[in-house]
Amino acid sequence: MYNAFFGFTLNPFNMSPDPSFLFRSRQHEEALANLIYGVQSRKGFILLTGEVGTGKTTMLECLRDFLNAQQIAFASLFNSRLTVAQFFEMLAYDFDLNCNRLSKTEVLLTLNHMLLERTAAGRTTVLIVDEAHNLEWDVLEEIRLLGNLENRKGKLLQVVIAGQQELDAKLDQPQFRQLKQRISLRCALRGFDAGESAAYINSRMARAGVRDQKIIPLEIIEEIHYRSQGIPRLINAICDNLLLTSFAMVCRTTTLEMLDEVTADMRLEYPERPSFQQDRCIPDHSLR
Ligand SMILES: Nc1ncnc2c1ncn2[C@@H]1O[C@H](COP(=O)(O)OP(=O)(O)O)[C@@H](O)[C@H]1O
Ligand SMILES: [Mg+2]
Repeated sequence: MYNAFFGFTLNPFNMSPDPSFLFRSRQHEEALANLIYGVQSRKGFILLTGEVGTGKTTMLECLRDFLNAQQIAFASLFNSRLTVAQFFEMLAYDFDLNCNRLSKTEVLLTLNHMLLERTAAGRTTVLIVDEAHNLEWDVLEEIRLLGNLENRKGKLLQVVIAGQQELDAKLDQPQFRQLKQRISLRCALRGFDAGESAAYINSRMARAGVRDQKIIPLEIIEEIHYRSQGIPRLINAICDNLLLTSFAMVCRTTTLEMLDEVTADMRLEYPERPSFQQDRCIPDHSLR
């Protein structure tokens, strides 16, 4: 809507996990390197956790791009509200297994056969599970059993599991003990620090065609960082609404008043700013 007004060729704060907008913060770079390393070196179970909106799905999209480029076969589980039967049907569909996809036994046999053949040929096969914190116990248990399949060369199926922090708590429960023990590589995402938030906002604007942007001045970026706690999805939502408000007011530079309006409309909750008066060092005469 506001793209032409600000000179963008595409929407800079699109909400989709689009790898072409990837901002390589150190933690994202590290997480992606870990996922790729874990898959390539057949580590078995790899866990990616992080608060909602920190970039987990974006990392998985980047991993998928890598797997496609390397012609590594993978199946992706997005819908975490699956039953066991639906899970096996989906596996059969994604791996294009030639069997009765509604029969768990047939799917398992065919999958096992395929995995053995691929491993013998030195090829890697991956299962990617997003939103795993929502998965039912029985589906997670099936995933654990699949990830256990191995021959002398190592695990037959590499399993990347991503989910919100509740997943860590879930894995701490006694019934998930076995799965927890099998996780050989862990990575976690958190919000950006102030410098990263600024670089992130500027990089998205540059990707959308506006370099050295002055539309959102640095002091507003700092405030956006504070109010979003550096969570990329919140930064996107705030910036998108901010640009829309600025556009509606035919103003090419965003202001603090606009930001206040936007975050109030979003009902965004963020910690109280510490009062500088209280923080300032006032000599305490009572100690004398
Ligand atoms: N490193 C990054 N580079 C570019 N965009 C990112 C990055 N991390 C997160 N985002 C953006 O933030 C939003 C939320 O990311 P997403 O991967 O969906 O988070 P999660 O899966 O952890 O909830 C998306 O719009 C995505 O494009
Ligand atoms: Mg996600």
